[in-house]
Amino acid sequence: MLMHDETLFKDARAFDLDFIPKNFNHRESQVEAIAICIKPTLRGARAVNALIYGPPATGKTTAINKLKEDLADVPHGDKVEIVHINCQIHSSKFSIFSQIHNSVIGHTPPETGVPFKKVYEAIFKRLMKDGRSLIVVLDDMNHLFYDRHANEIFYDILRVHEVFPGARAAVFSIVTDIEFGRKLEDRVRSVFRPSEIFFKPYGPGEMFDILKERVSEGFYPGVITDDLISKVADHAFKTGDLRLGIETLRRSAFAAENDVSKKIKSEHVSKAIADSGQSALKETLKALDEDERSLLRVIAKSEKLNSGELYELFKEATGKSYTTFYRMLDKFESLRLIDTKFSDEGKRGRTRSIILRYERGEILK
Ligand SMILES: Nc1ncnc2c1ncn2[C@@H]1O[C@H](COP(=O)(O)OP(=O)(O)OP(=O)(O)O)[C@@H](O)[C@H]1O
Ligand SMILES: [Mg+2]
Repeated sequence: MLMHDETLFKDARAFDLDFIPKNFNHRESQVEAIAICIKPTLRGARAVNALIYGPPATGKTTAINKLKEDLADVPHGDKVEIVHINCQIHSSKFSIFSQIHNSVIGHTPPETGVPFKKVYEAIFKRLMKDGRSLIVVLDDMNHLFYDRHANEIFYDILRVHEVFPGARAAVFSIVTDIEFGRKLEDRVRSVFRPSEIFFKPYGPGEMFDILKERVSEGFYPGVITDDLISKVADHAFKTGDLRLGIETLRRSAFAAENDVSKKIKSEHVSKAIADSGQSALKETLKALDEDERSLLRVIAKSEKLNSGELYELFKEATGKSYTTFYRMLDKFESLRLIDTKFSDEGKRGRTRSIILRYERGEILK
């Protein structure tokens, strides 16, 4: 039995969203590929642009954080300035260059009265004076398209050498869907040409390893058995979301603490799974735009459909093209909202059957 002020958490921060784990297993090849893009900067050259893509919670943001940590111990690591920008928060051109200014110079420029040109010049003059290269990491870059500034921002960074000969800058763009990297205008694509680095989804065994490691960072020894970690890992794998697994561990410990129990039991995990499942779906739905939501509702309303029949209904509802429709199906699949299976029946080309992974009621509510 736990005393009331006792806790199962050795370090509760280990379950926070921005926690940087000590070990970053199963991402060695991706980290190596990004390191190769950074390496030229240590010899005074420009970094190679990168397009980092993969489903949510596959470690894309963490990989950048780990590499930034590592760089502190590398000879000439100070020859590169990596500015990591969360585009969900900073999506305007001014706000992004303010972040770069802050990182390079040590403070943000005044909000008003300073022309963009001055901010731009201050950043690159300082970098050139210090002999440093710039890498701007545009994390969740898809948000830049909502403001229609994406092209301009890429352009200003990647063609800086035309304005300041000798200045060196590159962009690492992070997206869940590689299509966003391909949506840029031709004039930008001709200078972007990134290395494409894929963060593939974790398998159930990989999720187990990662969660077990997190347990040993966050809980006191003996708080949870391997069997129960496995149960959490299976749940995370089914929903395709490691983040949900980490959250489920935390909620399981809360449930145990509420019961004044020194160990997490199966019933605590079951309760945590039920709670976190609901909030995960809510989060996913929030990330969809209006057309995507309307397609998902069409799917939820209809009995088993193949992709052709579904497209007819979707076209009626939105008037959108087949390409858009197909891309949305891919996105739903990567978000684990649906499963699709190819079938050759009917001999009218490859059609897919669509299976909703949630109760229809949960989507339509
Ligand atoms: N290989 C790993 N080892 C340990 N923890 C990991 C690993 N991969 C991911 N995580 C953890 O999973 C969570 C999600 O990782 P991260 O934020 O890096 O994902 P992401 O790919 O950037 O996702 P999103 O596309 O949603 O931004 C974080 O809590 C992170 O610590
Ligand atoms: Mg991320």
